[in-house]
Amino acid sequence: MNSLYASHLTSLIAFYQRTLERFQLDYIIIASGKKSYYFQDDNALPFKPNAYAQQWLPFDLDPDTFIIISNESKPTLIWPLKEDFWHAPHTLPQGEWSDLWTIKQTSAQTDWMQKITGKCVWIGQEVKGLSNKCSQNEDILHWLNYHRAYKTDYEIDLLKQANIRALAGHNAAHQAFLNGKSELEIYLDYLQASQQTSYQEPYSGIVALNKNAAVLHYEHKRPQVPDHFNTLLIDAGAKINGYGSDITRTFTTDENVFNDLLISMDSIQQTLANKAIHGVDYRDLHLTCLTEIANLLQESQICSLPADEQIAKGITQTFFPHGLGHLLGLQVHDVGGHQVSPEGDILKPQSNAPYLRLTRTLESNMVITIEPGLYFIPMLLEKMLSTVPQHGCDMSLIKSLLPFGGIRIEDNVLVKDNMSVNLTRHS
Ligand code: GLY
Ligand code: MN
Ligand code: MN
Repeated sequence: MNSLYASHLTSLIAFYQRTLERFQLDYIIIASGKKSYYFQDDNALPFKPNAYAQQWLPFDLDPDTFIIISNESKPTLIWPLKEDFWHAPHTLPQGEWSDLWTIKQTSAQTDWMQKITGKCVWIGQEVKGLSNKCSQNEDILHWLNYHRAYKTDYEIDLLKQANIRALAGHNAAHQAFLNGKSELEIYLDYLQASQQTSYQEPYSGIVALNKNAAVLHYEHKRPQVPDHFNTLLIDAGAKINGYGSDITRTFTTDENVFNDLLISMDSIQQTLANKAIHGVDYRDLHLTCLTEIANLLQESQICSLPADEQIAKGITQTFFPHGLGHLLGLQVHDVGGHQVSPEGDILKPQSNAPYLRLTRTLESNMVITIEPGLYFIPMLLEKMLSTVPQHGCDMSLIKSLLPFGGIRIEDNVLVKDNMSVNLTRHS
């Protein structure tokens, strides 16, 4: 028996049974989800199971599966049996995990629903037959979302494994960059080395050469080999049992200013990752990051203004427009990042960090990303020039850096009481 999974399941059952009591319920039913299709097409979209359901099981969950939690000691798994010769059989994975469950394999989609009598809430997409008996409840979602931020040892272990798998891909991508391959070839090498198809990625990997590195969520994978290789920015992860890593590396062939910026950004990133400990307000960590980047812009003579003036005028934000990071888990941008209470109170980010996805105070066993960036984004630079007369920026130096695109360095970090554990760099 995987004891990490067994104790994860024990604590999940205890937590959900506390939830039943708190909301005076007899059942919580979680639907894994349905296959969905493109408009007027019989081609299905890649299936992504409902994260609340995936959290319960140590394998990738298929559609049309249900989990029932009640006061019984074991949760129930409803596993659909289908006659379908078009697709691979939908067989229940074998293993000791199943000793911990009551499993009902059924071809009658709604049979099991007859037995649900009592107060019941369901989570997931609407299911015929269930919606008459059970309701949906926002307050329960707030309660569950808030607690999803704290990971069990099993979840931390899966995130660690997802890092190891993605790092094999990142190493292959670096090598492909040095070998002069195209974005598409680098991406294919990444997938091969991290042993996944593009459908299995936690998000579509970003593979950006040269000035494309300035596009935060660059979505193309160009097949053309460029005639020069300044930069590779690769932001890509891997998934294990639904838990995804989210890692970014930037590589350059430069030996001058851009390379110096890259080395400094790596050191800023490491310092911030070390500071991500229990009790730290993540908004403050983001502000520390802005200040560090402002200092770097001044030291490297990109902007002559001191840090506080740069930040007040929005100049540092021109070069670092996104947030420092986010919660990580079953979803890449895991739920509850702005939720500061189990009841659902929301804390929006401050105006100088509008895209910050995490405003909570860090607590032990949260897993987060730390991903500072420094980019040369023509659209934002033009906006700065037209709205900030005294910007103090050396535009000819900036122009020489445009072909490099930008830098992002992203690690996955486990928050602990007096320390942080970098899951990406920790062997
Ligand atoms: N890969 C998306 C992000 O870093 O947030
Ligand atoms: Mn990322
Ligand atoms: Mn991220």
